Amino acid sequence: MLQLVEPEELRAALLAWFDLFQRDLPWRRSEDPYEILVAEIMLQQTRSEVVAKRYQGFLDRFPCVEALAAAPVESVEAAWSGLGYYRRARNLHRAALILAERGILPASASEWAELPGVGAYTSALLASRCCGESSPVLDGNVERVLSRFLASREPPRRAAARRILLATASRLLHPGRPGDSNQALMEVGSLVCRRGTPDCGACPIAPGCRAFRSPGLDPRTFPVVRPRRAREVRHCFTAVVRRGDELLLHRRPGDADWLAGRWHLPTVEFASREESIGAAEALGREFGGCWECDEPAVLVRHAVTYRDFVVRAAVARWRPECTPEETAANQAPLGRPSLVWFRDSEIDELPTSSLLRKTLDSVGVRCADSPLHSGP
Ligand code: ADE
Repeated sequence: MLQLVEPEELRAALLAWFDLFQRDLPWRRSEDPYEILVAEIMLQQTRSEVVAKRYQGFLDRFPCVEALAAAPVESVEAAWSGLGYYRRARNLHRAALILAERGILPASASEWAELPGVGAYTSALLASRCCGESSPVLDGNVERVLSRFLASREPPRRAAARRILLATASRLLHPGRPGDSNQALMEVGSLVCRRGTPDCGACPIAPGCRAFRSPGLDPRTFPVVRPRRAREVRHCFTAVVRRGDELLLHRRPGDADWLAGRWHLPTVEFASREESIGAAEALGREFGGCWECDEPAVLVRHAVTYRDFVVRAAVARWRPECTPEETAANQAPLGRPSLVWFRDSEIDELPTSSLLRKTLDSVGVRCADSPLHSGP
């Protein structure tokens, strides 16, 4: 497809716009990789207005990587308050320990990605900001900007569409200022190329934008949304059984239609929420042994693609041996899944899931990254 405008012109226009119109956000003023790392981890799941309120306080408390590494993890979690998703604070602390021990900073996206809590998106962004690497990033804002720019009729989360969007983002990165170019595209998405009210007259890359330039196209109709599959509700009951610092888990079958092959808490499924009243008996039928579940069970909601899991979870006790009467009432099928005790420190090495962590959190068993331990 013919290019509407030379990429160099667009790169220059994008940066010129950013220099003039970017919001004054505290993490944009810094060139210190540690401060940038802290900001990008905070921004992973928290809105920039919230991060802006907490960022400086965190840096005052932990001004450099050595200070963060030397601090107890509990004080890092405390300073993270208000940002949510505390796992990020624990990962950041582990990252600081690694960086302080190494004494040198990562020099590329792949080296950044070795740190806990730094995935593909954050490592690319950090490399562009801290190492001058031309590594493009796509967040929701950039996906929208570029889907419009290309007038793409492909949902941006599809793998083939993503490759094209990344290649386009790459062409818009200024080789001398890749970090600013990435942030400029995000900023265009936040301030100008808004979801329902794009302000194309103010957009620095509008001259190259197909949705804007093509007669008859409405930028608001991009990105196209993937047709939604009907959602499915699954009702489950999950037992959290502790023995000292051990947790009772089982490995879900490789052909299960959710969490296949993962280690998970003993869980039974019901056709409806009401049915889960007889959970202890159902656990006995499924896993064998005798079960006693505390009341009231907490409700955990968890969405995975098109499935909504509604999980009632309770602290429970399990005895592998039953009295003869109990056994008679509990005719388990052969080949039932076997239950295994794992120490908290072993669990991090297992293939588990965010549903496991969420469930433990919600019943008050706190899942630190390593080791996992009972909360207060
Ligand atoms: N979201 C993630 N990183 C960001 C940044 N550097 N600026 C604005 N929004 C962001």
